[in-house]
Amino acid sequence: MKTRITELFDIRQPIIQGGMHFVGRAELAAAVSNAGGLGIITGLTQRTPADLAIEIARCRGMTDAPFGVNLTFLPSFRAPPYPEYISAIIDGGVRVVETAGRNPEKYMTSLKAAGIKVIHKCTSVRHALKAQEIGCDAVSVDGFECGGHPGEDDVPNMILLPLTADALSIPFVASGGMADGRSLIAALALGADGISMGTRFIATQEAPVHDNVKQAIVAASELDTRLVMRGLRNTERVLNNKGVEDLLRIEQERGNSLTIDDIHDQVAGIYPKVMIEGDIDAGAWSCGMVAGLIDDVPTVQELIDRVVAQAEDLIRERFAALLKVST
Ligand SMILES: Cc1cc2nc3c(=O)[nH]c(=O)nc-3n(C[C@H](O)[C@H](O)[C@H](O)COP(=O)(O)O)c2cc1C
Repeated sequence: MKTRITELFDIRQPIIQGGMHFVGRAELAAAVSNAGGLGIITGLTQRTPADLAIEIARCRGMTDAPFGVNLTFLPSFRAPPYPEYISAIIDGGVRVVETAGRNPEKYMTSLKAAGIKVIHKCTSVRHALKAQEIGCDAVSVDGFECGGHPGEDDVPNMILLPLTADALSIPFVASGGMADGRSLIAALALGADGISMGTRFIATQEAPVHDNVKQAIVAASELDTRLVMRGLRNTERVLNNKGVEDLLRIEQERGNSLTIDDIHDQVAGIYPKVMIEGDIDAGAWSCGMVAGLIDDVPTVQELIDRVVAQAEDLIRERFAALLKVST
């Protein structure tokens, strides 16, 4: 398929794999890029900028196709050395950066000077417009249903995407709740130029995470996610589990006096325990409502081929039939 997003990133299909902490490593990013989408390495999963440089080189060893790096600017217990991470990205010859969280404005000059295309992830029309204004090449619009941080406005994609389409002139992808060819067609119909998937890509053969995580996503229904850290204005959609139930209880007990230190044990250092050791009850880890639509663990190539085939089928068969004049 050809859209403004495939043209911008020089990819074959309008499908992006969003950055995911402890999931977006070279194996997954390369598999997505090899299958025609845009794979993205999650920058901050690499403990140091030097580690990121090695991960970029590893990815390049696995694919000749374009891939990107995600840089997330969220509140954290210790601020990462962003300029050094950006140097690793530039020196590694990466052509696309997905920024997320806070406004990336202060890093735009160095990224653009290096010829890097920037796609900023946002959860509201006003932030999408701001991204366009500061020179981002595209945005990824995360609706309320998304895994990870849906922001604080709670607007689902059915409303957010057409509003974004009306407001924006740069290309954008729909993120949150995307799983198959139906999602892709719906996103295109609502004005997006492609889709970005997170949770769906975790349940693939190549995702370098413990099998318990993949099986937990396959087993989960659309009712099994919870919103945590709302009181800190750092809302995250996570898969419910024993650690999350503890977290929600603490949040309820503390009410307005909640601080990040109160929930340290349920949110800090959880990702390696879950993704590497397979301890899926350890605490809060991001997962989208789309888990309800996921019931298998295909290869990335199978997944992308299936999304595109179903989307093309919908256009050729279902929609063409709707236009046939009855005789
Ligand atoms: C396990 C997991 C970890 C994530 N980590 C990050 C991250 O570090 N940075 C980021 O920008 N987005 C992160 N996300 C959000 C995804 O990039 C994407 O926006 C989101 O998953 C889309 O919603 P979906 O899961 O319904 O497809 C994460 C999502 C998941 C499921």
